[in-house]
Amino acid sequence: MRGILFDGEAAVVADGLGVTDLEPHQVRVRVGAAGVCHSDMSVVDGKFGAMFPPPFVMGHEGAGEVVAVGADVTTVALGDHVVVATIDNCGRCSVCATGHPTLCQTSKLGAAIARRNQTGEEPGPGDLPAYFTYEGERILGFANTGVFAEEVVVGQGQVVAIDKGVPFTSACLIGCAVLTGTGAIFNRAKVYRGESVAVIGVGGIGLNVIQAARIAGATKIIAVDNNPAKENFARQFGATHFVDSGRDPAVAAVHDISSGGVHCSVECVGHTTLMQEAVEMLRPGGNMVILGVAGMESTMEVAPFQLYQNKSIMGCRYGSARPAFDIPALVDLYLDGRLLLDELVSATYDMSDLDKVFADLEAGKLARGVLDLS
Ligand SMILES: NC(=O)c1ccc[n+]([C@@H]2O[C@H](COP(=O)([O-])OP(=O)(O)OC[C@H]3O[C@@H](n4cnc5c(N)ncnc54)[C@H](O)[C@@H]3O)[C@@H](O)[C@H]2O)c1
Ligand SMILES: [Zn+2]
Ligand SMILES: [Zn+2]
Repeated sequence: MRGILFDGEAAVVADGLGVTDLEPHQVRVRVGAAGVCHSDMSVVDGKFGAMFPPPFVMGHEGAGEVVAVGADVTTVALGDHVVVATIDNCGRCSVCATGHPTLCQTSKLGAAIARRNQTGEEPGPGDLPAYFTYEGERILGFANTGVFAEEVVVGQGQVVAIDKGVPFTSACLIGCAVLTGTGAIFNRAKVYRGESVAVIGVGGIGLNVIQAARIAGATKIIAVDNNPAKENFARQFGATHFVDSGRDPAVAAVHDISSGGVHCSVECVGHTTLMQEAVEMLRPGGNMVILGVAGMESTMEVAPFQLYQNKSIMGCRYGSARPAFDIPALVDLYLDGRLLLDELVSATYDMSDLDKVFADLEAGKLARGVLDLS
């Protein structure tokens, strides 16, 4: 089988990959398409440090067809089209039971993130799920998945069946950009109609924050990007204003447009200075959501008094998603014409063209680039 490996230095297309035999709760998915997220670039740039020991199969935003199911699988069947989610939550622990599966520490990756943040200890062999085989070893898939491969093995909680009318090239984006971006608004900050939202970074993630703010009924949706070419994308997805932060100071512009600060600001770039600015954009009572992934050791400075009037800084893994609820809801919004998915796909590429996707992403040409593996 063919796939894209991160070998510790670069992304390389490799033949000779395999997948492990199914455990009773697992399914095997033939990947139809996989979106390329900035987090995939961060893998190659080394931003995740030692969190994922190489070599591993890259890719974490995918959709495909179920081609085998384990003996205990009840939620999907052979032939189903599914979105693949990156959280392998257990469904039974206290956080799963209270609707917060992205916090599940029964999941090996969830536990490894929590341990790293508490003790600094990096994951060792066996600490993360490894369901690929390569050169006689079991190897990881990035973020519990590894969808830059022809097939992937995941837990049944990670796949949600969808309407077969949704093309894989659009459906795959639900697997990260859409769940993450919309979840920041729907699940984490819980934006209400009539509120104002500032979105910093108009990439695949930011565009989904923008469209969720529109669906939630936010009346001022202020997109901020230092690339003025992003204005068209931003307005297409629902931004009411655009600030070219390469030209105008963004904090002042946002305060001006929102008459005193926004109810919610969302950082979708991964720069700590922008996170600080996002806090400064808030009105009293406002919530700043961090979606961008900064370097593992980077720090941000915030004057505590900035937060005095009930402002909050919210971390947000994977849109605080509940895949079994959120994925069907997002597909319904798409089929209803309210959630734009096809418009997110700026171009499709072959698996061997990942470098070109990265170059186009860096050049600001893409809402999302998608690997078509069908
Ligand atoms: N929290 C999560 O679970 C989660 C999930 C997926 C992605 N992410 C992270 O979200 C971030 C965005 O991912 P993406 O795929 O949308 O990236 P992208 O490359 O598609 O978009 C980034 C956008 O930020 C803009 N930008 C860059 N520098 C800027 C600056 N200094 N000021 C203003 N705008 C700037 C770019 O022009 C671009 O439009 C990344 O850090 C990624 O790792 C987080
Ligand atoms: Zn992603
Ligand atoms: Zn759990």
